[in-house]
Amino acid sequence: MATLKELEPKAKEILARERTAYEEKNPKSRAAFERYSRVLPGGVSRTLCYFPPFPCQTVSGEGCFMVDVDGNRRLDLFNCATTLILGHRPPAVIKAVEEQLTRGTAYQTNSGLETVLAEMLVERVASVEQIRFTNSGSEGTMMAIRAARAFTGRAKIAKMEGGYHGSHDCVEISVRPPAGAGGPAERPTPVVGSAGINRSVLNDVIIIPYNNLEAAKQILVAHAAELACVIVEPILGSVGFVPAEREFLIGLREEARRLGLVFILDEVQSFRLDRGGAQKLFGITPDLTCFGKIIGGGFPVGAFGGRRDIMALFNTATGSGTIPHAGTFNANPITMSAGIATMEQLTGSVYARLNGMGDRLRDQLTALGARRQVPMYVSGIGSMFKIHFSEAPIRDYRATLGSSSLMHTALFFFGLNRGIFLSEGGRCCLSLPIGEPEIGMYLAVVEEFLTALAR
Ligand SMILES: Cc1ncc(COP(=O)(O)O)c(C=O)c1O
Repeated sequence: MATLKELEPKAKEILARERTAYEEKNPKSRAAFERYSRVLPGGVSRTLCYFPPFPCQTVSGEGCFMVDVDGNRRLDLFNCATTLILGHRPPAVIKAVEEQLTRGTAYQTNSGLETVLAEMLVERVASVEQIRFTNSGSEGTMMAIRAARAFTGRAKIAKMEGGYHGSHDCVEISVRPPAGAGGPAERPTPVVGSAGINRSVLNDVIIIPYNNLEAAKQILVAHAAELACVIVEPILGSVGFVPAEREFLIGLREEARRLGLVFILDEVQSFRLDRGGAQKLFGITPDLTCFGKIIGGGFPVGAFGGRRDIMALFNTATGSGTIPHAGTFNANPITMSAGIATMEQLTGSVYARLNGMGDRLRDQLTALGARRQVPMYVSGIGSMFKIHFSEAPIRDYRATLGSSSLMHTALFFFGLNRGIFLSEGGRCCLSLPIGEPEIGMYLAVVEEFLTALAR
């Protein structure tokens, strides 16, 4: 097996060559970028959408493919950051949205559609008795945390090192702390995610190492008197689809119960794993759950829900509601109609198909790495996966610091020039229209890349 150190010079060469080829093949995207950079800082409205030298501009999506302004057609293996579980423009969703468009796009009252989508989610997710919709996953986690604070009367939150829960201040802590900045691995210190987040927020956030139950318990016990909640993803998304180990998640849930903390499961991404969410797969019952992505059928969405006694904090009808929850476009009928049509498609056999395809793919990628003698660890669960160019297994955020981001970037451009769209960080997910030919196409490109690396 080659070492990363031995392979990186070759990866650098490949990256330089592929980036140049990308620039040559995408002149219209470059021109578009120059134009929109004048009015949009960095040319985008989402940091994740930028990559140097310029991102390609998408003009359409169909099924599992996207077409850019230069006419390049690529297999979409990121699906708007896991959102498009049915792929681009699924006919049933488009039909539902078109019908709703003829009736209106935003009302000041319940459209009836939000009741239907809420009923569907409550029926699917055993722990969710009541739910509220938002416009993004970030707002969902923000409101869930606010509810936990109000319910317990305590101020602090515990989150995982490497955990991502959106863009509000108290969760933008220790998402990707630079190497050496986060203190001891067993007892991480909180690190602000960027300028503009008040350092005072650090006082309210306790950091837990993922997949380390003993350390997590000690930290929770030490801070229990001031903690409102613990918030956790069943699979660390931003770190590169690193799943929780079952004992860790179950143990954390139990410890939160024992200490009287609200246990919030962030299923914004993991809800694509099972009809009942990752909580069904892991066999846990959170107090609150956050949703986003797939439940809006490709339109802006988020939600939070769970125990009736906690959700009662929002119930202004009975007078028990003490937390106002605003949002002009919350539960707008376009999103709701797309969400309902999506949920209708998502039967047990659809999840089984997607998850089975993911399991096989992870095995095939691992075998490829071994055959080509490239150190690769393929993480993920169900339809989400990532190749970590790493000499060690990846169980938590710290482990990713030893992997090669240069090799990811080289693979990303290699893919772009051969009809595959990954995320630049290497995270991938599958959508329903993907079949064996597309999987074969992706594997062939990865194999070609690994062969070029080892040459
Ligand atoms: C686990 C998790 N929580 C919350 C969010 C925030 O959702 P949104 O981007 O819709 O605000 C994301 C987004 O990627 C996420 O992956």
